[in-house]
Amino acid sequence: MAAAAGFAFTRRLQRVSDRDVNRLEDHFLTPARAFDAASLGDRLLFPRQMAWFHGEPIWHELGTERQLMLNRLTFCQSYLSTAVAEAATNTLNFQASLQTLIREDPEVAFYMAREVVEETTHIQAFLIVIRKVLAHYGLDLDDLRGANVSLPLSERYVQAHALLGWLRGNLDFYYFTRFPLNVNQKTVERCAIDEPDLHDGVRTLLKNHAIDEARHMQMSRATGKVALSRMRGRTARTLACVAFARFAARLYIGRHAADGRLQRATRTRTLVLCGVEPPRAARAYRDWRDRIHQPEDPPLVRAGRRYYLRQMESYVDELEVGPRLRAYMKRVIAAGYADVVGAAALPRQSGLEREPGLEFGELTRS
Ligand SMILES: [Fe+2]
Ligand SMILES: [Fe+2]
Repeated sequence: MAAAAGFAFTRRLQRVSDRDVNRLEDHFLTPARAFDAASLGDRLLFPRQMAWFHGEPIWHELGTERQLMLNRLTFCQSYLSTAVAEAATNTLNFQASLQTLIREDPEVAFYMAREVVEETTHIQAFLIVIRKVLAHYGLDLDDLRGANVSLPLSERYVQAHALLGWLRGNLDFYYFTRFPLNVNQKTVERCAIDEPDLHDGVRTLLKNHAIDEARHMQMSRATGKVALSRMRGRTARTLACVAFARFAARLYIGRHAADGRLQRATRTRTLVLCGVEPPRAARAYRDWRDRIHQPEDPPLVRAGRRYYLRQMESYVDELEVGPRLRAYMKRVIAAGYADVVGAAALPRQSGLEREPGLEFGELTRS
């Protein structure tokens, strides 16, 4: 079974997961249940500079209490989106597990299914915390979902990949595109963990999550490469690479030129949940998106965007593709990140960078 040989790395991932799986309750549900929104005080739930509208005139108008509320609702929206995206990946992970069980190595199928178990606990823990934060502000999950109109994008992601997986007979392409999603989520989560003013209980939860997700990302990274190498025919591989680049270019941290209608509505409605009048919220969004008041993002957002771009570039460098296709992929991704592309292109030790780049060390369970 030649194809299975390429997935030998899942044995190592499974061993790490086997060690952790019996502690899912301790790592996720216990800290989530212990979280008390009354203990929030002046603590944040999201990296200060990455909270939506940070530093904008609207942010100054909000005053300290509602700035905190916006920071925490940014967390709620971000992790509700993460929870929904993880539920979406679960559907595909399980489908991949089924196909692998029928046609390939059952051990690989078991690891794919294991990720479903882990994600389900993550989703449960996030929702426990989100609901408590919302209740603290007199809001509930329906208020949050009503504002987060971009959630159905996850359903479309599943439908598109399920269809493709059915046509192609495997979900290789899904794993190929999962990597940018992992990197995007990791960047924000690691910045939250490093945020000095973060609530400590939530930090513990996010740390435990980042450790699991680092393994899921290894799965995406390695599977993506195997997937590409076993796609038959140049056209299929080229199309996969083009789709990968376009998908990676559309994912973003902070403000993005490709910000769509749904993202706009989500951000505007979240401001309204903080007590801003809808017309003022709509104007605040436009000013923010068009970089009227802050042409440059806050340093942490820039650093996050550069980190994501670098990760994508180094992944593209590792793929078995020709030089023209590689250059095209890099160009497409960089076009979405034009605001940081100059700085990202500088050699890391040149001393010309305006902010230090993000470096994330190894995390340990706390
Ligand atoms: Fe997760
Ligand atoms: Fe994951």
